[in-house]
Amino acid sequence: MDKQFFTRNRKKLYETLEDQSLTILFAGEAAHQSADESYPFYPNRNFYYLTGITEPKIVFVATKYGGQVHETLFIQRADPWMARWYGETITADEAREASGIENIELLDKLDSFIRGEFDGRVYRHLYADLEAKSWEFPSKPSNKFAAEAAVHYPYLTIHNLYPVLSNFRVIKSPEEIEQIRKAGQITADGIRHVLANARPGMREYELEAYFNFILKSRGVTEFAFPTILASGYNGTILHYSANTGTATDGSLVLLDLGAQYNYYNGDISYTFPVNGRFTPRQKQIYDIVLRCNRAITKKVRPGLPFKELNQFTIRFFTEELLKIGLIKKPEDVRKYYFHGVSHSLGLDTHDVGNYRETKLAPGEVITNEPGLYIPEESIGIRIEDDILCTEDGYEVLTEGLPRTTDEIETYMTEHNANMK
Ligand code: GLY
Ligand code: MN
Ligand code: MN
Repeated sequence: MDKQFFTRNRKKLYETLEDQSLTILFAGEAAHQSADESYPFYPNRNFYYLTGITEPKIVFVATKYGGQVHETLFIQRADPWMARWYGETITADEAREASGIENIELLDKLDSFIRGEFDGRVYRHLYADLEAKSWEFPSKPSNKFAAEAAVHYPYLTIHNLYPVLSNFRVIKSPEEIEQIRKAGQITADGIRHVLANARPGMREYELEAYFNFILKSRGVTEFAFPTILASGYNGTILHYSANTGTATDGSLVLLDLGAQYNYYNGDISYTFPVNGRFTPRQKQIYDIVLRCNRAITKKVRPGLPFKELNQFTIRFFTEELLKIGLIKKPEDVRKYYFHGVSHSLGLDTHDVGNYRETKLAPGEVITNEPGLYIPEESIGIRIEDDILCTEDGYEVLTEGLPRTTDEIETYMTEHNANMK
């Protein structure tokens, strides 16, 4: 992403800030796992959105005083010994180039900088990214910083940037949409590779390996979320991700997976018969889910209340399941469809924003993922696309996969040597 994108995001933020304020955001650090291993490092998404920096420990500070904004990025001091073990850390020039922030300092100076600012001038406001999901949520560097600042400078008003930046992130810029489109396309290519190599009797992790191969060979280093590769009954477990079962002849395979591309996520669910042929019952249920998916896509347009998508899905499935006799009472629909049909998609897979309360707007990217799960028949079907809300309707960013039962059967016959 070009530094102009991050510079624009900061400018937009500065317009919302009170004067006599200090803003601070942290890149974060990898959490300790065990012994000398850490979990993989993921840059804090709001920090990335404002700076374009993807290295740990870095801190961003902006002061607004007398109407003037002064921005500083604090980076690690180069350490030749650590560089031999882990590689070089970002230089001042690289940090300027990535972020568009001119003033780069070393992290060693952060404490004295902060004290100097608070002791030397009258600040009234502190802005920090204070994400908190629950009382138990582990405290992040921002939360610790804000708590400490409140002890030393109790007259400060502390503001939470999390909802502000979340609202910014709901509407995607054209360059963000391109990253999500690319993530979706690579994800779709990975699914085609699974379709072309599936065979009854394969373990789920073998099927998963065909997906992973495409991602890794395209330079994708991270997944959007743990891959769900579930066959038969396992496909009826919403968050199954052990991927150790066997895709027996006659079973459906449900994939829910995504590539991450330049920190933006793709998210597709896909269901196919491992032997290349749907049974009449599988086709009957599949067709209901696909018709629902397509009806939802057509509803996407600016002004649509987000919650209408799920309300429609429940109405649609209720009617269809009553019609085929799977349920006798409308309220039983939740036995077979029990999640939400959509979420926002972006730097996070379940992306930020209070979109549940709002109406769709141009530039939003959401998923469309109806599913039906019938454990007693070992049928689990979910069909998921990534949809952009445009000025006058929608664009399916994950267009192009075989989706009808005929298209899937034909694709497997033509591309899968095991089907001959
Ligand atoms: N697997 C995450 C989702 O589809 O929401
Ligand atoms: Mn998904
Ligand atoms: Mn999803």
